[in-house]
Amino acid sequence: MSFNFTSLLNANLPVPAPAPFTGYPKFYFIGGNNDADILPLTKLGDIAKSILEREGRGLARYGMGHGPQGYRPLREVISKNLRTRAGLICSVEEILVTSGSLQAIDFVNSLLVGVGDTVIVEEACYGGVISRLKKLGANVIGIGLDQDGMRTDHLDNVLADLKQKDVQPKYIFTIPTVQNPSGSVMSLERRLELLELSKTYSVPIFEDDCYADLLWEGERPPAIRSLDPTGRVIYCGSFSKSIAPAFRVGYLVADWNVIAQILPLKTDGGTGALEQMVLAEYAKNNFDQHVLNLQHVLRDKCQTMADVLNEQFGATAEFVIPKGGIFIWITLPASINTTELAQVALTEGVAINPGAEWVADPVMGRNRLRLCFASPSKQEIIDGVKALAEICHRETGLPERGANIVRKE
Ligand SMILES: Cc1ncc(COP(=O)(O)O)c(C=O)c1O
Repeated sequence: MSFNFTSLLNANLPVPAPAPFTGYPKFYFIGGNNDADILPLTKLGDIAKSILEREGRGLARYGMGHGPQGYRPLREVISKNLRTRAGLICSVEEILVTSGSLQAIDFVNSLLVGVGDTVIVEEACYGGVISRLKKLGANVIGIGLDQDGMRTDHLDNVLADLKQKDVQPKYIFTIPTVQNPSGSVMSLERRLELLELSKTYSVPIFEDDCYADLLWEGERPPAIRSLDPTGRVIYCGSFSKSIAPAFRVGYLVADWNVIAQILPLKTDGGTGALEQMVLAEYAKNNFDQHVLNLQHVLRDKCQTMADVLNEQFGATAEFVIPKGGIFIWITLPASINTTELAQVALTEGVAINPGAEWVADPVMGRNRLRLCFASPSKQEIIDGVKALAEICHRETGLPERGANIVRKE
């Protein structure tokens, strides 16, 4: 019999995991996984070998002897990429390499958010941010979204209302370029309006740009942080979506006074050095071409998913085809509860993200769902969406089979 820890456990622990991991369901449309076939394994392997020969003895020291902010050549690559791709000028001293951008999000929350604090997010928002804020006991307020991103008219009203109530929000969280889950891209005009509101109400902005490299249509707008000289924008990015999530390498960009305040929170002994070394060496010469290839693959898979959604769901599934990224955000008729649909679908091997986990107000997400098209193959996308439509029809009567199956223009 194993030792019983029950009486010793800390209060307020999360619900325990239901069971050890036994593998993914057949059709896996959830999470932020990437396309596996495009991974440049031969090149990464060659780089790993040569960099170990060249610098491997540095692994004998925590952080390779490059200090707690991360492997310096990687910070140099990040700095160059941000300058050329996002118009964001930052020095290596303003960059902190993190164990995924989730760690960057945790740091910003540790720095700013406590029980009862108010944080502003887009009404549909990355579930990992919403769940973290709720766990911290924060009051999460969602702002309306359209295809130009966060609606600044709505934000203005909310900020004015909070001011009147003497509530000072801790930050405005935004995923401006290829928003998760809506796929919207915030226009330059909105970015400037957002900065103005941030100034007027003295609320900092936390900009999460982890999908921006995956924009395949239209020009990438400059990072919000690049438009502001006052340091009111904390920025984070990641190699998870552009290269591979299992590397667990992300980064945070902020003025040195903020980085200085965050550094003591990084108590994990540093992000894995081999991953940083390989990424630095690979990204130095190959990043732009790699993301171009990736965009091509993702765009094609996105179209496959849109086609099969139209074919199988017809008018029952409303969505805008995103201009980048890895997800389609879908609205079903109000009568369909996607949390219930997700539970049934999972038992039949189809995993989907129900909308309620991806919104500030769960009521708004009740009939929405998010599907990731990056990780499954095109055949899995076709077969999985067909299977989902069958299950949805059986459980809810929608989509109607036969007559309702029309192809959208
Ligand atoms: C908007 C957003 N931010 C952050 C993350 C976390 O990514 P990672 O920790 O792998 O960098 C994700 C993952 O899906 C995301 O969608």
